[in-house]
Amino acid sequence: MTVPSSLKACVAVGLFGWAALAMGHGNVTPQGVDTGNLPELGADPLSENPFRANSEHGDYHEEAVKVGESGYAGNCAVCHGIQAQSGGLTPDLRELEEWDDEYFIGRVMNGTDRGMPSFKSNLDQNAMWAIKTYVESVKE
Ligand code: HEC
Repeated sequence: MTVPSSLKACVAVGLFGWAALAMGHGNVTPQGVDTGNLPELGADPLSENPFRANSEHGDYHEEAVKVGESGYAGNCAVCHGIQAQSGGLTPDLRELEEWDDEYFIGRVMNGTDRGMPSFKSNLDQNAMWAIKTYVESVKE
């Protein structure tokens, strides 16, 4: 017996819907980030943004801004505001300075018990630094 493809599509949607539900923390479902051609950074968190112009992987700055823009939109904008413009309920990430890098990565990895979720199991540090690079790019 052959299964009509419309039925297969139905089953696929059903499974996906369930997965989204199971992963959801409240109403926030972390979105995986395709880090494209960015260099592999390994598991140990760096203490400085490697994609900043003149940094170790500064050549990837533009690429990181692009990756970070979609990563930010899919994971952070819901709380920290469109284009990193906070409405005041959460910290405005544009106010972080370069010396806050270690603080930034620690917060994103581990979250806090006051409403900042941990992204350790959903984003690798490539995606996190790309997001930081994007936020720096929209800083006034
Ligand atoms: C569910 C809402 C929510 C989401 C989603 C979220 N955050 Fe947060 N974030 C918060 C809240 C609330 C705080 C303040 C927490 C506190 O004071 O302990 C915070 C704090 C932070 C801080 C510390 C800022 C400071 O000035 O102290 C950083 C960095 C941060 N978030 C980055 C991110 C990034 C990057 C993402 C996306 C990958 C993200 N957050 C997604 C709610 C969120």
